[in-house]
Amino acid sequence: VGAHAVSLVEVGPRDGLQNEQAPISTADKIELCKRLLAAGVTRLEAAAFVSPKWVPQMADGAHVLAGLNGFRHSEVSLSALVPNVKGMEAAIEAGVQEVVVFTAASEAFTQKNINCTIADSIERFKPVIELARQHQVHVRGSISCALGCPYEGPIPVGRAGDVARRLADVGVQEFDVADTIGVGTPGQTRAVFEAVAKAVPLHSVAGHFHDTYGQALANILAALDVGVRTFHSSVAGLGGCPYAKGATGNVATEDVVYMLHGMGYDTGVDLNALVDVGQWFSTAVLARPYGSRAGRALWTR
Ligand code: HMG
Ligand code: MG
Repeated sequence: VGAHAVSLVEVGPRDGLQNEQAPISTADKIELCKRLLAAGVTRLEAAAFVSPKWVPQMADGAHVLAGLNGFRHSEVSLSALVPNVKGMEAAIEAGVQEVVVFTAASEAFTQKNINCTIADSIERFKPVIELARQHQVHVRGSISCALGCPYEGPIPVGRAGDVARRLADVGVQEFDVADTIGVGTPGQTRAVFEAVAKAVPLHSVAGHFHDTYGQALANILAALDVGVRTFHSSVAGLGGCPYAKGATGNVATEDVVYMLHGMGYDTGVDLNALVDVGQWFSTAVLARPYGSRAGRALWTR
């Protein structure tokens, strides 16, 4: 990433869709991914190789990735969530460039989400990371509930940094610090990201904000100020987490791109093209109002 560049990871096809109760067709998922890539998205979280009993909507990940075969090129990195070796083997088979192992800054959330303790989750990642090394797959580690937990409430400021350090020790290369339920506010965000930046290199830290309380853009700005240059977002603000009751979508990619371009940052994303994608998917596929504020303002047809 250059001095005025921000790297965006589009998580709409994964985080955005995992909580949808009605099944979305594989063809619609593939079409969403293709249109996002055509709009200039280069890092795309397209699938989760998790237990289909836990998250049925993500069961067709291998087919979604197979459908993107013709759209891969050297500038594009496709990623998938993997909780264990079984998921990692599926991800390798599907030819992803990045995987995401995921734990949390909260014990209670880790238990609900992946049915183990934080320490056990990190143990479980070791063979996953070994496989990633063998196959030259980049490993991200997601830390949920860094700014608050639906079960434990407030989380100590240093907790995400502690977990990041433990993930770095087992070979995780990038650290996705997540406000799963969108409760964080900018001062707290600054403190948490400063603590994470003391634990692991700042260039390997990403901010993953949900917009439940309308704080996501302000929190991104706070993290930008700390020096974070990678953010996750979801087209049209799609999403929610099945194990975080009341959690709404990720911050809308359109809103993030609008803010960053307005501040003079380069994202590589064509905002108008992205708005077309968000409008199309919300109305034509999900049959609901378009959730991006910037997107609604820019949509003129
Ligand atoms: P478990 O029940 O403890 O594990 O689940 P298990 O090993 O006993 O497996 C249970 C069944 O699942 C078995 O099948 C396994 O074969 C199967 P059965 O024998 O009963 O027929 N299984 C799998 N199938 C396919 N792919 C796999 C896999 N693993 C096991 N990889 C487990 C433990 C981790 C598997 C489960 O808890 C799980 O899949 N959890 C995923 C939950 C999830 O996807 N949550 C949402 C994503 S995280 C998120 O959204 C947060 C994030 O956005 C950041 C933020 O905002 O905070 C990233
Ligand atoms: Mg999330």
